[in-house]
Amino acid sequence: MIHFSISRSEYENDLMELIRLFDSRTNEDLTLHADYSRCGDILKVCLISDKYPNFKKVQSFKIAFADELERKRVEKRYLKIAIYRTLSFLTGVQLPYGCLTGIRPTKLFTEIEASPEKYGKSAREVFLKDYGVSLQKTELVERTVEVQKPYRNTDGAYDVFVFIPFCPTRCAYCSFVSLPIDKQRKLLEPYTECLIRELEQTKTLIDSKKIDIRAVYVGGGTPTSIGAALLDKVLDHCHFGAREFTVEAGRPDAIDAEIIAILKKHGVTRISVNPQTFNQATLDLIGRRHRASDIYAAYAQTKGIFDVNMDLIAMLPNETLADFQRSVDIAVALAPENITVHTLYIKKGSALKLGGYDGGDCDTAAAMVDYAYDKLTSAGYEPYYMYRQKYTSGNLENVGYCKKGKGCLYNVDIMEEDTSIIACGANAISKKCESEKNLITRCANYKEPLEYVKNIDAMLKRQADFWNFDREFTHKTDK
Ligand SMILES: C[S@@+](CC[C@H](N)C(=O)[O-])C[C@H]1O[C@@H](n2cnc3c(N)ncnc32)[C@H](O)[C@@H]1O
Ligand code: SF4
Repeated sequence: MIHFSISRSEYENDLMELIRLFDSRTNEDLTLHADYSRCGDILKVCLISDKYPNFKKVQSFKIAFADELERKRVEKRYLKIAIYRTLSFLTGVQLPYGCLTGIRPTKLFTEIEASPEKYGKSAREVFLKDYGVSLQKTELVERTVEVQKPYRNTDGAYDVFVFIPFCPTRCAYCSFVSLPIDKQRKLLEPYTECLIRELEQTKTLIDSKKIDIRAVYVGGGTPTSIGAALLDKVLDHCHFGAREFTVEAGRPDAIDAEIIAILKKHGVTRISVNPQTFNQATLDLIGRRHRASDIYAAYAQTKGIFDVNMDLIAMLPNETLADFQRSVDIAVALAPENITVHTLYIKKGSALKLGGYDGGDCDTAAAMVDYAYDKLTSAGYEPYYMYRQKYTSGNLENVGYCKKGKGCLYNVDIMEEDTSIIACGANAISKKCESEKNLITRCANYKEPLEYVKNIDAMLKRQADFWNFDREFTHKTDK
């Protein structure tokens, strides 16, 4: 166990994440104490450990920052670099993403690419030499950044996100806000009523400000689990003239001919039919409560009508490398437009966490995601967006792959944080992105669906205030 301490508590929580990653890969028992000070633009970091007698490592960095906010960001980054280098030396462990935690790798890479004068070297070099990211992961990030360029938002359009927090059953790995529908029937009607009120307000806002909407994403949960009639009502209020309209149908057991007809009627362009795995024993174990054959049936009904995404998860409990390879091979053989490969993360609120599942070993996790990358890219899929979560097996990543020209705009927007998003429903967080000021502001709705219903009036007001206050927001109508 690594016993970490730091002379000031300012960045302690963020740094602990890095310590935890080392801890998950080593049995070393050592102490590490960090001290840091800044004189002008020089940050000095001193690290002391009991691993070797009198071990002390002092590292100095020349840092540049425009304001307090940036100072903190930069200081924290260099502290991580110093700690990463020292712990790598002390433990012999190297992490696939080096010192990068809590950061969207593609967003960071793009930022560095955009200001070479600030970094004095290419984004690739910064990743490899400063952040200690492996060559393989640097190249994955680089390729993803390149592939996603045509999907990036360049005209200031917005997105709309709609959250439906109900599911047929709760999956063992899931920590999202989602309620098993059979136990929450009473909440269904009031929830959709409130959601529709919020969507109506959103429509007024969009029309009055003449906002261009590029993508609508109805996510969850499992939006289609609320049934055809309620789904029809909700989708009636999701017509914002978007270029892309996704409904994350998700569970094959929540997709049938009636649902498909409703999705078609409303001009939905993209859905998910998520296997997670094609292995029946695993589906049973994780509580998906449907047959592997349901996945094929749902896909056969939807292929050719919508662009289809399939989510897979590497490192599901009891799965071997061969099990996962089989799932990837089947997904590739079915040839949906998108395949998203997640690596299992275990967070509070999931049954796997409660059951004490540790996420398996790092080498198998790496072999799984490597296999997926090789198989998918040789079958013509390209990585077009990616993100990382805390507590992920092997400290790896989630990657969205698409066939040529079939990337999902919303997924790119949400990861690159360059698009304002009007978000409706429980747990939804609206986001105002002012790229020119490098500023993102957020407005969160109540997280729990019941709280959302109880507080809908206050929330509608909060959202209206959030969007109206900003003069920038009105520029299209002012002109
Ligand atoms: C918001 S969930 C909704 C999808 C839909 N309800 C379904 O289950 O098919 C989106 C995706 O996140 C992934 N996911 C959720 N929890 C995860 C976890 N703990 N580890 C890895 N991936 C996870 C799954 O692949 C899931 O399909
Ligand atoms: S993974 Fe999907 S279906 Fe399963 S509980 Fe989470 S949101 Fe619901």
